[in-house]
Parts: sequence; C-alpha cells; structure tokens
Amino acid sequence: MSRKKYFENISEILITKKQLKKGIVKAAKWVDETYTDHNKDLVLIGLLKGSIPFIGQLVTEIERDVTLDFMVVSSFKGEDKAQGKPEIVTDILSDIKGKDVLLVEDIVDSGYTIEYVSKELLKRKPNSIKIITLLDKPSGRKTDLEIGYSCFEIPHKFIVGFGLDYKEKCRNYEFIGVLKKEIIERGKI
Ligand code: IMP
Ligand code: MG
Repeated sequence: MSRKKYFENISEILITKKQLKKGIVKAAKWVDETYTDHNKDLVLIGLLKGSIPFIGQLVTEIERDVTLDFMVVSSFKGEDKAQGKPEIVTDILSDIKGKDVLLVEDIVDSGYTIEYVSKELLKRKPNSIKIITLLDKPSGRKTDLEIGYSCFEIPHKFIVGFGLDYKEKCRNYEFIGVLKKEIIERGKI
C-alpha cells in the first residue's frame, strides 16, 4: 500500500512514528524502574492483535529479562464500538503463578476488556498484575481500573494505525491517525 493510500482513510495524524518511538522508550524505562527485583520473573502478556507493534518495540527497549506470552480476547469486532462481553479466545501458554504479570494493551477505552482479563488472570495467583497501554481514552472509561502506565492520552475519536484496526484494516500504519468519519458512516473501508 502506498503512503498516499493511507491518507484516503485518515483525516489527521494524531501521533507520528517519531513520537511513538519516544513514548515507547519512556514506557520501557518505566518497566525497568518498576520491576527492579531481577530474581522475580516478569511476564509480558500482549493482547492480540492490536498490541503487536507496541509490544514488539517495547521489549527491545526493556533492559531486564522478560518473558513473552500472548492472549486473544474478543470483545471488539473491529468496528467503532465495543460489542458484547469480553471472552478469552486463545489463552496464554505459560503458568503465571507467583510471577509478576504486565498486561500490554493497545488502547484502554471503556476498560471492560482489560478489567475482565485482569480478573481472570488474578485467579491464577500471580505475584502481581499491572497494565501498560500505548493509548488511553479516558473519556470512554466505564470502570475504575488502575492503569500502571499509559504512553499517550487521546481524545474521544476513533483511531487506527500502529496495531489498531477498523474491520481488520489499517493495523500496519506507522502512525496513529483518526479514521475519516465517512468511513464509519459508510461502515466500509
Ligand atoms: P475497551 O474494552 O472499551 O477498553 O476497549 C478496548 C479495545 O477496544 C481495544 O483493545 C481495541 O481493540 C478496541 N478499541 C477501542 N477504541 C478503539 C479505537 O479508537 N480504534 C480501534 N480500536 C479501538
Ligand atoms: Mg485490543
């Protein structure tokens, strides 16, 4: 896809590639400063698929040892609003008992998805669970869940790129952009 094609779908760039990189470097620093006991295992759990670019860059900037695991949670069908209740579609492979868990999310909007995942994982008796998110949309929040670290706060707009999709498209954009209103109204990209 050419760069030009990107701009048929977005009305504005919210966060550039350079700003993303800078924000993620800071996030990795927070991880290293938060998890200082290197004798304790730290598992980063990425929620697929939206967190892929974020977790990919994040792990290369973290200095301490970490392990990776992934989970597919369906709550959101790639449309412009959450539909139905969250559900673990594909579970992690590792045993998190006694370990520090850091959930890696692309965006926290209502907070329902991440709250559900945290509650499910808590049943497996980890040492701790915290949440790190690339984007935070505080205006959408419906839960009082605590976010450990958020890289960028964004306005109440439907955004795509750097992992985030509209109907499975736009995940590969190197920036975060606002999806054109016409596309949402048309329901087709
Ligand atoms: P929550 O459960 O309402 O917090 O929604 C979280 C999930 O909704 C995220 O993991 C995203 O997959 C999706 N989501 C929320 N807002 C947006 C958006 O603006 N663009 C794309 N996906 C979004
Ligand atoms: Mg997601």
